[in-house]
Amino acid sequence: MAAQINPSILSADFARLADEAKAVEGADWLHVDVMDNHFVPNLTLGVPVVESLARATDTPLDCHLMIEAPDRWAPQYVEAGASSVTFHVEAAAAPVRLAREIRAKGARASMALRPATPIEPYEDLLPELDMLLIMTVEPGFGGQAFLDIMLPKIRRTRELIRKHGLELWLQVDGGVSADTIERCAEAGADVFVAGSAVYGASDPAEAVRALRKQAEE
Ligand code: DX5
Ligand code: ZN
Repeated sequence: MAAQINPSILSADFARLADEAKAVEGADWLHVDVMDNHFVPNLTLGVPVVESLARATDTPLDCHLMIEAPDRWAPQYVEAGASSVTFHVEAAAAPVRLAREIRAKGARASMALRPATPIEPYEDLLPELDMLLIMTVEPGFGGQAFLDIMLPKIRRTRELIRKHGLELWLQVDGGVSADTIERCAEAGADVFVAGSAVYGASDPAEAVRALRKQAEE
């Protein structure tokens, strides 16, 4: 699969979300970080903002739920217009049921692992998912330094995906930039979330193109 770049609107200007979404048209997805100040120590946005964003842009929304009780909330993000919904396995009560529900509602189902959460206990769940997200920072904030210690986990996960012959996308999120994206791609990631590396650039659309090119080299 060609590399996909998903700009994270966490690094955008929240008072100008529609314009900020348009500034990265040409990106594969728009990454929307939902934080509840419980699962992570930060608070961002919820269902009504996702509904408005879905109306404001043609770029499909990749909603990353950093919230408690995703079993209860994730289906509402599909209804709000998300095309992909990621829940954290550490917060989900019933990840298999939840992934099936997200798919049944018509979105791609994705599961995220915090840096300290291993992939191995979840090997048998992989066929239930359309994407797996390996966090390369502790979730909660944009602009943190990439955790190199996650590279072996990316490699092991790519190996499991291969072993099972799955179509699963492997996403990395946190500290992805011109300095780190090649290491992620080499380890086996194919979907790259970038917040500050895109919205911190003078031309965000050009930053998306440059990152994609680097990831594909
Ligand atoms: C962090 C979020 C990320 C964040 C990444 O918890 O999940 O999506 O926006 O920001 P950068 O790319 O700046 O690390
Ligand atoms: Zn995210």
